[in-house]
Amino acid sequence: MVIKPHLKRTVRILLVGDRGVGKTSLILSLVSEEFPENVPAKAEEITIPADVTPEQVPTNIVDYSSVEQSEAELNDHIKRASVVCIVYAVDDDESIERISSYWMPLIRQNHPDTQCPVVLVGNKIDLVEYSTIDGIYEIMEEFSEIETCVECSAKTLKNISEMFYYAQKAVLHPTSPIYSVENAD
Ligand code: GTP
Repeated sequence: MVIKPHLKRTVRILLVGDRGVGKTSLILSLVSEEFPENVPAKAEEITIPADVTPEQVPTNIVDYSSVEQSEAELNDHIKRASVVCIVYAVDDDESIERISSYWMPLIRQNHPDTQCPVVLVGNKIDLVEYSTIDGIYEIMEEFSEIETCVECSAKTLKNISEMFYYAQKAVLHPTSPIYSVENAD
């Protein structure tokens, strides 16, 4: 009998979130290890080869821009994502409220049969003296597919590589069930 080794698929990480929360900056900070002073509306799709990722899997990182992209394109991106990072800005309460009111329902709509893992990313931690994590835990209790949350700063590079590692881990070692009776019709 031949036992085939488990083939590692590509992990597709999609960043979504309200305008100006820092999605493009996070991706560019990861890639260049410095904060980009001038950010384009959208970063090109990035492919990271398996041998330089912590979990040794090829990883694509995909940016979303509400300015450049349509709602149909957003839905298509969400359908194809293996994990979605919802980015909010820690100094912008509305971007936090919209996690439960807009982004989570949209992700569920686009993954009706299976749960798509989600990581919540609080960016711009360099601008505040407080943490948003207590409020975020309440959101995590409401949506079981949220695997984890992390606060970071594209500007100071704090927790940037960690955030992409958590996203990979959410796909490769999810803690929530992939099929939810709650979501089934
Ligand atoms: P859209 O493409 O419009 O949806 O925006 P985005 O989410 O891609 O945000 P973008 O990366 O364009 O950043 C928006 C603004 O926030 C820019 O002026 C960035 O310089 C700034 N910014 C991004 N990350 C940080 C951060 O960690 N700290 C601070 N202080 N500013 C940041």
